[in-house]
Amino acid sequence: MASDRIQTPKGTRDFYPADMRVQNHLFDGWRAVCRGFGYEEYEGPTFEHLELYVGKSGEEIVGQLYHFKDKGDRDLALRPELTPTLARMVNQKGPSLRKPLKWFSIPRLFRYERAQRGRLREFFQLNMDVVGCDTVAAEADLISAAVEMLRRFGLTADDFAVRVSSRRLLSEFLGRLGIAEAAQAGVYAALDKRAKVGEEEFRRLLAEQNVTGDSAAQLESFFLCRSLSELSALFTAPSAGEAAALGELRDLFGLLDGLGYAGFVRVDTSVVRGLAYYTGIVFELFDKGLNLRALAGGGRYDSLLSNLGGEPVSAVGFGMGDVVLADLLGEKGLLPQGRPGVDYYLVDLAASGGLPRPELLSLAQRLRERGLAVSYSLKAGKFKKQLEEANEGGARRVLFFGSDRAPAGQYEVKDLVTGDQTILGEDEL
Ligand code: HAM
Repeated sequence: MASDRIQTPKGTRDFYPADMRVQNHLFDGWRAVCRGFGYEEYEGPTFEHLELYVGKSGEEIVGQLYHFKDKGDRDLALRPELTPTLARMVNQKGPSLRKPLKWFSIPRLFRYERAQRGRLREFFQLNMDVVGCDTVAAEADLISAAVEMLRRFGLTADDFAVRVSSRRLLSEFLGRLGIAEAAQAGVYAALDKRAKVGEEEFRRLLAEQNVTGDSAAQLESFFLCRSLSELSALFTAPSAGEAAALGELRDLFGLLDGLGYAGFVRVDTSVVRGLAYYTGIVFELFDKGLNLRALAGGGRYDSLLSNLGGEPVSAVGFGMGDVVLADLLGEKGLLPQGRPGVDYYLVDLAASGGLPRPELLSLAQRLRERGLAVSYSLKAGKFKKQLEEANEGGARRVLFFGSDRAPAGQYEVKDLVTGDQTILGEDEL
């Protein structure tokens, strides 16, 4: 009985061949752009020691961990993100790795989230990171790559935008409001949750960190800035720290404008990011309909490596999930259609069930040796059945094996795309 059958666990997916075609399309596009920007691929384990995440990634993601004890009584967790693994790996090799590193990876990640549109419990996420570059050249490179990726998939400036802010500037601003550094993480968490929890709960969370009255109003004026000039107007007499953080934003926009990305990138101080370790520029990519959650998010995390016991090495990167991206591409009709069928499907005109003929098998073998994709009916059934199989499999051409219209050593071939029928020698195939 169907109702008794075991289903996939909540928030996970099966990838049938049609789903894998979509997945491979995303991964191929991601890999091509990463390589085009000179990033190298790496990978880590799917589970790590629990302590790699606790106290470093922030309370939201720790609350979503799949953690367990193994048979040796060790506390382990399925990875909810790759950044701590990257930091651990770089720390492990220390100075033997030549910096700056430009690395990418496409990990499978696990978060115990409330499963909903765009949010699953198991998903894939492209990660691109630069380790050991402390100027915004790294941010500019990463944001350019993220924009190019989405353009490669067919999206335009009408479809998505990159919103950029600065944790460093926000931290300076909170300092100005007299909010001690220890309380700032709580404020970031409140700001990041704002849209999710609603205004009343947001105010309550801020009040928990003693941000009320005039401080709350001033914070709001920061939060509303949508351009560099609005930020400059807010910081009329900037402190040295504020001036440096503003300078970084200006430099980054200077580089991105020069690359022609002005139409894609804008200041948006409401971007805070949920993860605790960001220290500088932060950014998120959104679809312009704003129907979906963020397509990607990232930023600078200059203290994570040293917090995990390594040398103080600067780092910046972003993650782009497969779920939201596939949803958006599907909505815009930009996902690949049809099947990537074989070059030749060999139809045996003399077949009537039983095993395929050895002559047909050796032709298939010779063609495959030349790099062609070749298939034939494993059941060697009636002509009509074989043709149906060729069509359903998306074959580009059918070769009629044993056709009396072709002289010895030649083959009758039909192009299923154009309908053209020709006689070809084996090396012309
Ligand atoms: P994040 O903002 O947690 O950042 O995730 C980045 C992207 O991953 C999101 O914008 C979204 O597309 C996707 N994503 C996150 N959670 C889920 C989920 N439950 N289901 C589907 N997609 C999801 C990070 O993970 C950082 N470690 C990124 C980073 C890399 N920062 C620096 N380097």
